[in-house]
Amino acid sequence: MPQAPLRAIRASFIDFRHTVASPEQLPESVRYLADGLLLIDNGHIVSLSPWQEGALSEEAELIDLSGKIIVPGFVDSHIHYPQTEMMGAYGEQLLEWLNQYTFPVESQYHCPQHAAQIAEFFIDQLLANGTTTALVFATVHPESVDALFNAALAHNMRLIAGKVMMDRHAPEALIETPEESYQQTRDLITRWHEKGRLSYALTPRFAPTSSPQLLEKVQQLRHEFPDVWLHTHLSENPQEIAWVRQLFPERSGYLDVYHHYNLTGRRSVFAHCLHLEDDEWQCLHETDSAIAFCPTSNLFLGSGLFDIKRSWQQQVKVGIGSDVGAGTTFNMLETLGEAYKVGQLQQYKLSACEAFYHATLGGARALDLDSKIGNFAAGKEADFVVLDPAVTPLQTLRLAKTVDIWEILFVLMTFGDDRNIAETWVAGSRCWPKAS
Ligand code: GUN
Ligand code: ZN
Repeated sequence: MPQAPLRAIRASFIDFRHTVASPEQLPESVRYLADGLLLIDNGHIVSLSPWQEGALSEEAELIDLSGKIIVPGFVDSHIHYPQTEMMGAYGEQLLEWLNQYTFPVESQYHCPQHAAQIAEFFIDQLLANGTTTALVFATVHPESVDALFNAALAHNMRLIAGKVMMDRHAPEALIETPEESYQQTRDLITRWHEKGRLSYALTPRFAPTSSPQLLEKVQQLRHEFPDVWLHTHLSENPQEIAWVRQLFPERSGYLDVYHHYNLTGRRSVFAHCLHLEDDEWQCLHETDSAIAFCPTSNLFLGSGLFDIKRSWQQQVKVGIGSDVGAGTTFNMLETLGEAYKVGQLQQYKLSACEAFYHATLGGARALDLDSKIGNFAAGKEADFVVLDPAVTPLQTLRLAKTVDIWEILFVLMTFGDDRNIAETWVAGSRCWPKAS
């Protein structure tokens, strides 16, 4: 990877200095510089300070983005890259949606050329939408993981992904034996984990497609590779939950299936968590596991409403996931707008401040990456997004009436989209728009 040179960027900046235990603590964590200067060197943050005329050393290249707002790169804590080509599949809820649309699409990823084509398209979509880090499902095929990691490596992105593991209740072409799943996953970990900025996540699809023998293999891999991530689905849909109870009658509930095989923990991320029992919230807290809240997916599949307030009360880490392709957008601004509406339906006011926290430092913490990314602290990796708050006539009209930065950000998350993503920077280099 070529080294990125010393650069100085002038703009407005917002980030969060540290993680918080409640939304009330956000104001003391937030840092807003209306006119700031970000210094980056060799892919890392050197400093963020107020702009001072004449203070810049001569060796730095100055990039003047005054009028733009720069925030840390968005973290998408749950997404399926092969489902990019089936977004907006009509009419079904989770279990029928999987059988009717998802499994047939995922069956194509044994083909390396197809996997590479969609992986590159997918990475471009992330970057075009300001997402610099994601936790990603591939398919059951190792080829699908190789394609994705190769595409991310070309941009030096920080990305966590894994091969789906499943050995039942799916079409023959997508099913493997527990031993095959173990061997292929082991090979992929050896090949990709901690290569550049890439990391591996053990990815059992969900309890219904996992036999006890498969879950034992996942447990064994976690034991052999204690620093890999664990990424799966939990408590998304009432029929799914009832099915898990039937399949695992000896377990006390859905989460207990995973917990029994030691799959909870600091690097475990559970997508959805919409219908948790009290003891499941408690278990997520005690094991320091994280939740990926995926508002557009939860609304699109009619799965339910995530209880944001409860996640704070129970002190469970939360990141925001697009969950493409049940999710309907790659764009984090639009995703935050839907998260706000999920809050409204439960009398919870999701402020712009809290929303941007979840999308940046909070998401980084949910993925146990907050020592590396998530804000502009010196030494962190220089991943960030340049937002242009007024790209349409309507936005320009509305922004003229905003009173402070929080209202600007709220307007952006209410009717912003990919047009507001002016630039995306990864490891100190501009990756979007692409150099022509
Ligand atoms: N549960 C198991 N697989 C999936 C999937 O692909 N998408 C969603 N939303 N939920 C799942
Ligand atoms: Zn999902």
